[in-house]
Amino acid sequence: MTAQRIRTLTDTLNRYAHEYYTLDAPSVPDAEYDRLYRELEALEAAHPELRLPESPTRRVGGAMLAGFDTVVHAVPMLSLNNAFSPQDDSGAFDHAEMRAFDERVGKDLGLAQVVYCSEPKFDGLAVSLLYQHGVLVQAATRGDGASGEDVTDNLKTVRNVPLQLQGGHLPELIEVRGEVLMLKADFAALNRRQEAAGQKPFANPRNAAAGSLRQLDSKITAQRKLHFFAYGIARQQGGKVAETHIDELAYLGGLGFSLPEGRFAVCKGIEAVLAFYERLAAERASLPYEIDGVVVKVNSLAQQQQLGFVSRAPRWAVAHKFPAEEALTVVEAIDVQVGRTGAVTPVARLQPVFVGGVTVTNATLHNQDEVSRKDVRVGDTVVVRRAGDVIPEVVRILPERRPMLEIPGADLFSGSLSPQSPPFRLPENCPVCGSAVVREENEAVARCSGGMLCAAQRAQGLIHFAARKAMDIDGLGQKQIEALVAQDLVHGFADLYRLDIATLQQIKDGGQDDSGKPKPQKWAQNILDGIAASRTPPLARLLFALGIRHVGESTAKQLAAAFGSLALLRQAPQPLLACLPDIGGVVAASIADYFRQPAQSALLDDLLAAGVQPQEGPPSPRLAQYFAPEQWLARLPGIKLSEKRAAELWVLAGCSMDGLLQDEALPAAWQQWRTQTEHAALLRDIARFLALLPEAADHTAAAGASDSPPAPLAGKTVVLTGTLPSLKRDEAAALIEAAGGKVSGSVSKKTDYVVAGEAAGSKLDKAQALGVGILDEAGLLALLNGERHSG
Ligand code: IVH
Repeated sequence: MTAQRIRTLTDTLNRYAHEYYTLDAPSVPDAEYDRLYRELEALEAAHPELRLPESPTRRVGGAMLAGFDTVVHAVPMLSLNNAFSPQDDSGAFDHAEMRAFDERVGKDLGLAQVVYCSEPKFDGLAVSLLYQHGVLVQAATRGDGASGEDVTDNLKTVRNVPLQLQGGHLPELIEVRGEVLMLKADFAALNRRQEAAGQKPFANPRNAAAGSLRQLDSKITAQRKLHFFAYGIARQQGGKVAETHIDELAYLGGLGFSLPEGRFAVCKGIEAVLAFYERLAAERASLPYEIDGVVVKVNSLAQQQQLGFVSRAPRWAVAHKFPAEEALTVVEAIDVQVGRTGAVTPVARLQPVFVGGVTVTNATLHNQDEVSRKDVRVGDTVVVRRAGDVIPEVVRILPERRPMLEIPGADLFSGSLSPQSPPFRLPENCPVCGSAVVREENEAVARCSGGMLCAAQRAQGLIHFAARKAMDIDGLGQKQIEALVAQDLVHGFADLYRLDIATLQQIKDGGQDDSGKPKPQKWAQNILDGIAASRTPPLARLLFALGIRHVGESTAKQLAAAFGSLALLRQAPQPLLACLPDIGGVVAASIADYFRQPAQSALLDDLLAAGVQPQEGPPSPRLAQYFAPEQWLARLPGIKLSEKRAAELWVLAGCSMDGLLQDEALPAAWQQWRTQTEHAALLRDIARFLALLPEAADHTAAAGASDSPPAPLAGKTVVLTGTLPSLKRDEAAALIEAAGGKVSGSVSKKTDYVVAGEAAGSKLDKAQALGVGILDEAGLLALLNGERHSG
């Protein structure tokens, strides 16, 4: 029967959508979903009267509206009182307002310790969703709190809003409150599309969400990716009755709503609340959605009732706001800075302004195109943004506040106004060394062409070299390095290792005693000690420290793990480097170029000669596998071979390098390619390198057997979730990496272990579903100690 089939298809597709969008754990391939969806579409087209209100086909949007109907909220949508926690210059929070809130609540309830539930304060729009018999029948905006607008068609297009509630214990009626928002990634993509289409970009995800939700044409809403998080129940008939807010959230999760996984928690007492706040504040910038604080709610619903409301806000909840990430200030000047790679970056010098928890005086303007696009000029009032630890940036200017000059005219009416400052242009020469500033085609950044001749590039290169994550030279900071470079006491990396007390003291006044002789000072000795202690870094750190373009920390670790020694890596030709997982052609070329440039090679040799000796090990046993002939043949420059064709070519050549170089019966395109001398030379380089491998493996294996312990997690992928009892997340990650493992952010079939702590969320569920090994902290430590994991 058609009606029956439509019912089944609707239910099934809604369940699949829930698994896909909310649980992030699809149970069927996309093609199967599409097949059923098309069947339902066809049946509905033939029998429009049988189309159900919860049909997934309604997610594409409905008819265009003339205006929104008004919805009177059965339970008013209230607001929250705010509490702020200002920070001092060191970033420490002053939580006086929150302590006062807790004290008042404790007093009113007659409790020494109140149990709260803390959750994110989403920076989106409040909506109310009404379900009858499990089906979404109405969605309304908050409006003035008493009545809002009917946006049912629009809400139906939001993929993670259940059109039909899931699970067993369904209420007859339930009104769910929550927030509609746009994920940061979807916002960025939308703005890219807006700009490509010549339309005005949205100022922030919140505005984009608001603009998308209030579309009279729900087909437009359907194209904008919105997201819904539930945070409460306004009223309910039937179904499970919760006693606490956290149970209410859990119930909503079971009905099919998305919750901010891992980011809501029961907090016993105010200290736990404040710790939660500080943790979330630190995570804020890396969350996929914008939040502007933490909402703290008394957990017990009975206690909530007891506390009640005052004017338009509950007395049992508070919005504990984060410091604003955006503020207004004035551009005092625009300077340019020269970075390690020569990148010439325009920087706005600002009137000091408190934003994102610190006082900001500089903000990056990125590059010429960005300055031009935003038309930032000296004197402009601008919005600056500082999110998390990222560099503050100028978001936009306020054109109406631009200082203008009056150009007098001949008479009273012909005078005109023109901006006081001209548009900004990058200089044509490096402000530090005077070399030409060049900008390559298709590149947004302009660079100083001075290379190591430019003192700014040298200083930045050395600052990077000495940094904590690189050579980790204690005591040698930006200031000291800039002074050493400015006085030409240090040129290359190696010069650091030749410094002595007397030289070092030249960078600081007061380094001499009364007799005029330099007096050994503690700070100088500390730097020398720091330098001496950095002589034997792990290879990965040295590689990162060199500042090879495109080689960040993780690529450096990968290279070190693959090649084991600097000597071997230095000889690796580009196509082989490109065979390593996660290393693409551009990165491989940059590495190979670096080691082949005579100037760089000389610097590196000099560094080794000055006594720097990285800790090395054997090449990875997987290297031979990465360097299978079809792999590197498919990555040769100037000829495009698929892996399949490459494998065929290898066989045709008799599985030999000589064959590749000389066989006259090989395909013409190949013979053509190898006639070029640099191509033939590259093949010989590869052959020479591959011949080195067995010896390198033997040599270092023999050495490694005695002094380097086996890596217990070699080749294993581990996912961390939840809070571990004693290890912080980055500590656990460091231990895993040190043991040869890789830490990944998401669980898949390739995951070897999931280490789950308290409040582990969907990752743990997924691990269980996929049968991935699950460990607690103790299990992880046992594994790191080389004990076998059983189970
Ligand atoms: S509960 C009676 N929880 O904050 C209080 N509100 O000022 C009901 N908001 O516009 C609100 N995240 O949209 C609550 N986790 C959260 C929230 C949240 C954001 C918004 C809400 C409302 C405003 C209240």
